[in-house]
Amino acid sequence: MSSTPYDRLLIIDFGSQVTQLIARCLRELGVYCEIHPCQTITEDFLADFAPKAVIFSGGPASVIEAGAPRPPKGVFDLGVPILGICYGQQVMMQMLGGRVTREHGTAEFGRAYVTPTGDRIDLLNGWFQDVREQVWMSHGDHVSAIPPGFKVYGTSPNAPYAITADPGQHFYAVQFHPEVHHTPNGRTLYKNFVRLAGFTGDWTMGAYRQEAIRNIRAQVGDQRVICALSGGVDSSVAAVLIHQAIGAQLTCVFVDHGLMRLNEAEEVVSMFREHYNIPLIHADEAERFLSALDGVSDPETKRKIIGKLFIDVFQAHADGIAGAAFLAQGTLYPDVIESVSTSGGPSATIKSHHNVGGLPEKMGLRLVEPLRDLFKDEVRALGRELGLPAGFIGRHPFPGPGLAIRCPGEITREKLDILRRADAVYIDQIRKHGLYDRIWQAFATILPVRTVGVMGDGRTYDYACALRAVTSVDGMTADYYPFSHAFLGETAARLINEVPGINRVTYDITSKPPGTIEWE
Ligand code: XMP
Repeated sequence: MSSTPYDRLLIIDFGSQVTQLIARCLRELGVYCEIHPCQTITEDFLADFAPKAVIFSGGPASVIEAGAPRPPKGVFDLGVPILGICYGQQVMMQMLGGRVTREHGTAEFGRAYVTPTGDRIDLLNGWFQDVREQVWMSHGDHVSAIPPGFKVYGTSPNAPYAITADPGQHFYAVQFHPEVHHTPNGRTLYKNFVRLAGFTGDWTMGAYRQEAIRNIRAQVGDQRVICALSGGVDSSVAAVLIHQAIGAQLTCVFVDHGLMRLNEAEEVVSMFREHYNIPLIHADEAERFLSALDGVSDPETKRKIIGKLFIDVFQAHADGIAGAAFLAQGTLYPDVIESVSTSGGPSATIKSHHNVGGLPEKMGLRLVEPLRDLFKDEVRALGRELGLPAGFIGRHPFPGPGLAIRCPGEITREKLDILRRADAVYIDQIRKHGLYDRIWQAFATILPVRTVGVMGDGRTYDYACALRAVTSVDGMTADYYPFSHAFLGETAARLINEVPGINRVTYDITSKPPGTIEWE
């Protein structure tokens, strides 16, 4: 649980795939909220957390079955507004004396339409302007009787109790998911709910920054912190924030594996050292990494070699920083949300992929993770608040193994040089055409084939290069970007004219799935 001076909303997670979207919606409304798995919530927890309102998420379990997750009864005695979503509605109805049943034909998955019953409540301000509202349903069970004090405010063909409420107690419950975009007016319900609960929308990025600085100072005291700087947005924002909090007590270590893009390493070093005046160790270890990768063509072996060497190199440099007690990481909120086991088994597992290979334990360091309450776009907003250049904050993602996975097959220095130049020309083209911010990720790869061409009067036998550009929300799925033929033709001509070593250009139009974004 974070300490925060802001009013907080507690989201009790019953394991829905879309619980994070509830948090996103609330954050956008300026409301501080935390997601906690149902299994970890006790009466004491509720008393400590002191929420100003509570939301029960959806979830895959059935309240009819034994062992279904339930919040402590005391949640209904807190005297604060509660909103139940889907499973959250059913658990609320059942615990307060209603009934949930499963009958043939009452399941409802996908788009549905809810119509009002005639009675109005403030939760529904701005709803039913067009008589009915489109909502997203995903339920097998349904509510078949409501508890005393509740009334029905909206119904759908398969969910007669689609919206129920006891407005006197500020208990609200809906069978559908207002947080998904298939419920187009869903955000209005959250807005109304937080207003009813008295939230003022005081959770802003400026406020977050001040609070984060206070927390870092309190955590670190006068001890030293080291930060593995990758040049990416998350670790950079974390480093600048920590530096604002504790100044020269922070040392950054930038492990340069020689697999960065053109001029990237120099830019990172000059930005941090000169612009921000942050003590920075530039571990120029290109030779070590490239020697270790010599002759390796298997993608997973490449990743393992780079990962292991990264840890060794980082540790060697960090060991030289006397008195370091903390390791700073740019861990984000989606990485720390505990995943819920609704089967009643071991309560939770925490993803740890941001932990640099178990380094903190190995080196006896404690973690400073000032971004662990934030989503990715909130980190960007914080970066802007901290004055990081807009061009830097909006940069496309770049993978940890760098160009190694954009050079399918064996990696050579020659190929890396060609790739760097090709990538720079390609990105320059995209920027010149004003397309950079419309694309989620764009890059060049150098293919492990040479092809025959003709330039001037001579025959060439050079590498082929493939261009990739995708749109995506989170990198999990992606579509190729539909460049115009004019753009592709102009870019191919520039690449072949300006980058010696390339005589053929292709554009990758594979979506993900079935492809991946990177080639390896
Ligand atoms: P794929 O290729 O799996 O990539 O569709 C999805 C996103 O993840 C990035 N990526 C990585 N990032 N280490 C990273 O830090 C990796 O090993 C890695 N592999 C892929 C990729 O650039 C894309 O944004």
